[in-house]
Amino acid sequence: MPKEKASLYAVPKLKAFSAATLGKAVEKLLDALTAESKTIPDEATWKTFRDRWMSRNNGLLTQVNDLWLKAAPKEAKREVGQLVNELKKQVEVKVENVRASLSALASAPGEKPKKQQTHASVQPPRGAIDITLPGIHRPFGAEHPVIKTMNEIVSVFRDLGYSVQEGPEIETDYYNFEALNFPPNHPARDTQDTLFIANQESKPARDRLLLRTHTSPVQIRTMEKMRPPLRIVIPGKVHRNDAPDATHSPIFHQVEGLAVDTNITFSDLKGTLDHAMKALFGSSVKTRFYPSFFPFTEPSADVQLSCIFCGGKGYRDGNRCPNCKASGWIELLGCGMVDPNVFGFVDYDSTKVSGFAFGMGIERIAILKYGVDDIQLFYQGDVRFLEQFL
Ligand code: PHE
Repeated sequence: MPKEKASLYAVPKLKAFSAATLGKAVEKLLDALTAESKTIPDEATWKTFRDRWMSRNNGLLTQVNDLWLKAAPKEAKREVGQLVNELKKQVEVKVENVRASLSALASAPGEKPKKQQTHASVQPPRGAIDITLPGIHRPFGAEHPVIKTMNEIVSVFRDLGYSVQEGPEIETDYYNFEALNFPPNHPARDTQDTLFIANQESKPARDRLLLRTHTSPVQIRTMEKMRPPLRIVIPGKVHRNDAPDATHSPIFHQVEGLAVDTNITFSDLKGTLDHAMKALFGSSVKTRFYPSFFPFTEPSADVQLSCIFCGGKGYRDGNRCPNCKASGWIELLGCGMVDPNVFGFVDYDSTKVSGFAFGMGIERIAILKYGVDDIQLFYQGDVRFLEQFL
């Protein structure tokens, strides 16, 4: 605050009370207030500043009251009164702002408040936690429906005493085909639309690399390292040279199963899979084992599930059921008794042990369980689809 009295603002006596004169007087007063408010370095000076403007005992606002309001002629009183009230508020706010920015400055040394702030908007000092900020909302994630279904299938078999095995997605011809009793050039290989890794011609045929077309090679890998009895499930990703559409994807998932022990029979296979399907789809579903062919199982079967959409009737609301094409059955998975030739590749004695194997597509089961009409939805990462599985 300037020390020389001469330069200090003083409230003038008003000669006239017209709007123009009043306006000018107010403007001068506010200019003086602003100028003085910029020269307050500490609390002691602020107190002097506050008292100069607001002291009841002859502070500038009291003078305004006396020299402007009280002195105003009757007819101007109303207008001058409003003006003086407004002025008082502005002076109070300004004086309070100066105090607030002084105390912000005191608790954050070196940091100048960027602008004069009202008391309520004073920034917390740097490094302090502003408990008035809204929290950060972290939405819950959800298990992907494919993983969720995979876990469900695996846990049904875990409850039956199966353990979990895994194997590589880049596989050799030997594990994907040869040891599973697909001889070289056998037409059954054509059913597997294989993606081969390029530039493998210099290697012996059985060592050539490919993307596994099914989880069955892990049957061989597991039997190589474990002796019977054996009960395992193998969840994993598989690859086929299929163009993507509503029912095909070049990458999808399977759960494989293998049980090897003495006296394992086809009825064990039937009982196990019937139980698993009831656990997954509800106790009212029926299963049917339909003759099929796989090189590594003999006999082989496709398991069909009574249609969950029409209850196995083939008709729904008087129309043909589109889901089972009016047959009442939906084909679900492949299975069979382990072919003795396969045991030959892993040194199991097929005169002493027997076993069954099965393999199911996880997406196919998820599609049926959740009524999804396009397999591509599983891979697009659209939250509007995924959040339905929360
Ligand atoms: N691996 C077969 C497939 O992907 C399924 C299968 C597994 C069949 C185990 C029989 C036994 O088509």
